[in-house]
Amino acid sequence: MAYTIATIALFTLLLLSCLLCSSAKSNTRELAIGIDDAKCVTRPRPYCGRSPSPMKFADKRLKQVYPVIQAFKKRITRDPQGVTKTWVGTNICKYKGFYCDAPPDNKSAIALASADFNGFRLAAPTLKGFIDKLPDLALFHANSNNFSGNDIFAELDNLQHYLYEFDVSNNNLAGQFPPAFLMLNNITFLDIRYNQFSGPVPPQIFAKPLDVLFLNNNNFDQFLPENLGSTTALYVTLANNHFSGPIPRSIGQAAPTLLEILFLNNRLSGCLPYEIGYLNRLTLFDAGLNQLTGPIPFSFACLEKIERLNLAGNKFYGAVPELLCLVKSLTNLSLSDNYFTFVGPFCMALVNRGVLDLRNNCVPGLPFQRSALECAEFFFYRFLEHPKFCDHPFWFAYIPCNLTHIWGGERGSGAVTDRPVTAKSPSYAALEKHRT
Ligand SMILES: *[C@@H]1O[C@H](CO)[C@@H](O)[C@H](O)[C@H]1NC(C)=O
Ligand SMILES: *[C@@H]1O[C@H](CO)[C@@H](O)[C@H](O)[C@H]1NC(C)=O
Ligand SMILES: *[C@@H]1O[C@H](CO)[C@@H](O)[C@H](O)[C@H]1NC(C)=O
Ligand SMILES: *[C@@H]1O[C@H](CO)[C@@H](O)[C@H](O)[C@H]1NC(C)=O
Ligand SMILES: *[C@@H]1O[C@H](CO)[C@@H](O)[C@H](O)[C@H]1NC(C)=O
Repeated sequence: MAYTIATIALFTLLLLSCLLCSSAKSNTRELAIGIDDAKCVTRPRPYCGRSPSPMKFADKRLKQVYPVIQAFKKRITRDPQGVTKTWVGTNICKYKGFYCDAPPDNKSAIALASADFNGFRLAAPTLKGFIDKLPDLALFHANSNNFSGNDIFAELDNLQHYLYEFDVSNNNLAGQFPPAFLMLNNITFLDIRYNQFSGPVPPQIFAKPLDVLFLNNNNFDQFLPENLGSTTALYVTLANNHFSGPIPRSIGQAAPTLLEILFLNNRLSGCLPYEIGYLNRLTLFDAGLNQLTGPIPFSFACLEKIERLNLAGNKFYGAVPELLCLVKSLTNLSLSDNYFTFVGPFCMALVNRGVLDLRNNCVPGLPFQRSALECAEFFFYRFLEHPKFCDHPFWFAYIPCNLTHIWGGERGSGAVTDRPVTAKSPSYAALEKHRT
């Protein structure tokens, strides 16, 4: 009998403590899962609620991304800097590489706003199930990691509202240009250089509100899209891919925004469209190491801000336009390894000052030129293959500007000292693997 009473008493005690426990639970804020009452935690599990771990999140948005980050952590195969060791507990905002902020839709909430893994050298077989499950992400930077896979962004449309900077440069990502990027309405910075992406770049990307589009050092393989010029980007790098075809005439439409563009080392062919001359804010144009041909259009003299112009390593011929050599902002005009045959006095002055490089051309009397035979051969075959030379042979002489930047205006005549010191170029910096 005493034994039965003792059993009932014990049972009642346990029941009571569990009631206390659940009332404590319902009193804690909705965000807390589990129980943090010490009395209950010491009890055996079945008596003290279903969730034993004391997890409190500062915001329900953080609670939502917690399992996503933990699942990703399990998939990481390499972490030489031990970054993921800090990815423990509920204070996600303190994890190394993660940053919180108030999301635009609720200023009193706390959300995971950005992830910056630059240089962490993490390896994971895929990013799928991670970035596409972080709905409040605005910035994702992962330069110089070893993320791979080709299905990474299948469902990225979750992120279409806030994501505006996306950098996965210098990783091991492969496959086609991720179509999900086209659903990112507010993307302004897209950097996927130094991966193994292949196939075409969808033309729609040039209609996005981008400031920066870095596609260099992949295996993109495509006739350049006709609408290239609809881009609003300031910096565009297409260098070191397998792009082909001519530079589209639409490029002139990019005049309001375009500052630098790199076509360097592709398989571009055809003649330069005179519309390039509309780019009156352009400071850098690099189409070196392609199969481009024809003369340099006179319209290049309209590039009133141009500092660096590289056309080296192509099949250009004719005279170097004297008007171009009069553009005061030019600091580096690189025309080596072509078939130019003539330079006038203004261009000759640039050669002497080391601004214009004309080595390995066909200019009579200039040092370091191709042999006469090599030059003759080029012009002979050139004429056999393309008797018309360029499609619109007379456009090369069209000048779509009033040249006040050359002949004076308020700045007066061009003194040598007007030439600016060339600043560091974001596009050329993109030819380096690592972000500094
Ligand atoms: C904003 O976020 C706070 C904190 O998470 C939450 O309590 C509140 O209900 C949210 N407001 C709206 C309108 O969603
Ligand atoms: C990246 O990972 C691949 C295997 O997935 C490996 O072959 C390669 O060496 C790694 N690269 C670096 C830079 O660690
Ligand atoms: C994102 O873009 C949409 C239009 O596509 C716009 O309505 C919205 O305000 C933008 N959101 C942010 C946070 O800029
Ligand atoms: C000029 O530009 C060419 C081609 O980009 C480059 O190789 C060369 O180093 C530059 N010269 C100077 C003096 O910066
Ligand atoms: C020349 O063109 C520029 C714009 O390109 C314009 O601001 C300027 O007024 C023009 N000058 C003359 C004399 O037409």
